[in-house]
Amino acid sequence: MKTLVVFASLLVLAAGRPETRPNPHGAQVLRVVPEQASQVHYLRGLLLQGNYDFWTEPRAVGHPVDIMVRAFQLPQLKKTLSQVGLRYTVKISNVAALLSKQRAAQEAARASGSRAMDWTSYHTYQEIMDWLESLAADHPDLCKVENVGSSFEGRTMKMLTLGKGGPGKPAIFIDGGIHAREWISPATVTYMINELVTKRDTYDDILSNVNFYFMPSINPDGYDYTFTDDRLWRKTRSDTNSIFGCKGADPNRNWGFHWMEVGASDEPCTEIYAGSEPFSEVEMRNVRDQIIKHGSDIKVYLTFHAFSQLWMYPWGWTSALPDDWQDLDDLAKSAVDALTSVYGTHYDIGSSTNVIYAAAGGSDDWAKGEGNVKYAYTIELRDTGEYGFLLPPEQILPSGEETFEGVKVVANFVRNTYGK
Ligand code: ARG
Ligand code: ZN
Repeated sequence: MKTLVVFASLLVLAAGRPETRPNPHGAQVLRVVPEQASQVHYLRGLLLQGNYDFWTEPRAVGHPVDIMVRAFQLPQLKKTLSQVGLRYTVKISNVAALLSKQRAAQEAARASGSRAMDWTSYHTYQEIMDWLESLAADHPDLCKVENVGSSFEGRTMKMLTLGKGGPGKPAIFIDGGIHAREWISPATVTYMINELVTKRDTYDDILSNVNFYFMPSINPDGYDYTFTDDRLWRKTRSDTNSIFGCKGADPNRNWGFHWMEVGASDEPCTEIYAGSEPFSEVEMRNVRDQIIKHGSDIKVYLTFHAFSQLWMYPWGWTSALPDDWQDLDDLAKSAVDALTSVYGTHYDIGSSTNVIYAAAGGSDDWAKGEGNVKYAYTIELRDTGEYGFLLPPEQILPSGEETFEGVKVVANFVRNTYGK
């Protein structure tokens, strides 16, 4: 009997954790705008505690912070916020309704479509991998696909190499989908792959002088889980030592460079759990090994996230800037100028600590600090919180178009700077 009571109360505790409670009924996204530095600090403390799902991180005074809150948490959060004088507005009043509306639209789009690749709906991991294989089969002189390892749950991770200049050309490594729920990331990365391949004559100069390594979805288990169980899952799906049964680590706190020093948690139930040790997550080891393998050729590392419209460079572990930050800032500005010229979409630029807040264990910091990739960027795609992670599929094409303009600037820069 006693063990039953203990067990039951463990279940109740576990149910209080967002990760084990995917039921979104009554969930809302609240927006608060800190007006004092003390409020920013307070919100950062709240994020580190891990009880709430922060859709955007507390940046600085005047920058909105979006927090998803489950129905049962609302009274507590409202009380907490009013204690520090923070007013909130309701940004998404009914997350469940938005989720089911989007699920219906997605299913309709998929029922009418051929299930082949397109950029008018979001695609499953398997569809993306099959499509990479089909590209390599159709264009053997331009691209090849390699299996580069397995995920925790056994999904095959594939990398597409693109280019016709042969080995030794300067290269750009691009990944997407490190955070499972950021669906616009794999969608945008695959859009760019498709442009380069299907318009290969237009991009002949780039493709002859620059090599690309593409991994559009580097958190396969988490990504699949957002299709099958919880659309808002962020982390990997690995086992942890959590007594509550919480799963997964934040793959962008898991890289072995100043690991766990700041902005990460050792509590497996939080969204920013860094993992049990650096590179505890096999998916991140697989990506790391490819960057190491092609190391000296890689001049640029781009990792695509969502959302907030930011083009950021290291460091994420300290507010200090790399010695060559001006070079990174210059290239980011050129890229963002091109991006903005398409639809007027505004992006902020800067080091991630200074633009958002300090968080160690990111792939960008590792790429620069350990991988010796000079130009390492984390790009937060659309939007600024209107839909957040639930970006409607009608925005895939515009996101792809504008982002590709930015990436072309980067590719031409690489060609002109490092190409012979
Ligand atoms: N929102 C991203 C994250 O939390 C930003 C990462 C920026 N880079 C960093 N090294 N902190 O993962
Ligand atoms: Zn992310």
